[in-house]
Amino acid sequence: MSARSNETVAHVVTAIRWPALIARLQDIVRRYPDAAMASSLAAEDMVLTHAIAASETGLRIFTLDTGRLHPETLGMIDVVRERYGIEIEIFRPDAAEVDAHVQAHGAFAFYESVDLRKACCHIRKVEPLQRALKARSAWLTGQRREQAATRVALPEEGHDDTFGLYKFNPLAEWSHDEIWYAIKAFGVPYNPLHDQGYPSIGCDPCTRPVRPGEDVRAGRWWWEQADSKECGLHAGNRATIPIKEAH
Ligand code: ADX
Ligand code: SF4
Repeated sequence: MSARSNETVAHVVTAIRWPALIARLQDIVRRYPDAAMASSLAAEDMVLTHAIAASETGLRIFTLDTGRLHPETLGMIDVVRERYGIEIEIFRPDAAEVDAHVQAHGAFAFYESVDLRKACCHIRKVEPLQRALKARSAWLTGQRREQAATRVALPEEGHDDTFGLYKFNPLAEWSHDEIWYAIKAFGVPYNPLHDQGYPSIGCDPCTRPVRPGEDVRAGRWWWEQADSKECGLHAGNRATIPIKEAH
């Protein structure tokens, strides 16, 4: 919990962050009518989904089903349909590429080296993301600056040179406490794994629960250094200050 009182968090979310977020989504759709949001179905992305529904912008949402997600995560696709009437579009990896990689390196090669881990992320996340973004002029993510050393300088918006379109990070400024205040106060549904020690959720074999006091992303690719913990979806993210000072 941050030093700020619950009352301050409540005020910041309801009086500032939430109305600004709704206005932002409306502005994004005005500027980029074909924009779409990438949802990992974790907490931040559920707050964005709730805001998209409330904004009545019809902003589309897609997810990358890597084939290694937890069943609890996949279950959120149905939850979103039932709760908001929003059909999340699903992009999956090329089956032949997955087979070739698994045949050559095994089903758990990501534990062996950063290169093999990035190769798996490329096949299961990056290439499907390229397909998801093809023919779109903008996309949105649920990234926050506070999340990682690689995200401290995350802009609210800017051109994404990696994927060649505009990119918005409307939650960039939000704190962890503000996200969870919004979830509880607005009754936003969330992945049950968050109540089982997973503050950040990715693929099942590459995510583990964290211990109290550990960094929120400590359970992601926990065998790697903090400055390599990006999977290629956000290749523009760079650690701009020494990793030790970022925590
Ligand atoms: S990751 O790069 O380390 O995996 P993280 O889990 O923090 O990312 O999520 C950051 C943002 O990346 C999410 O808010 C979402 O916009 C996008 N994202 C991550 N994983 C997926 C996924 N499987 N499908 C769609 N978008 C995703
Ligand atoms: Fe593969 Fe792990 Fe990356 Fe998922 S997070 S795509 S399982 S390396």
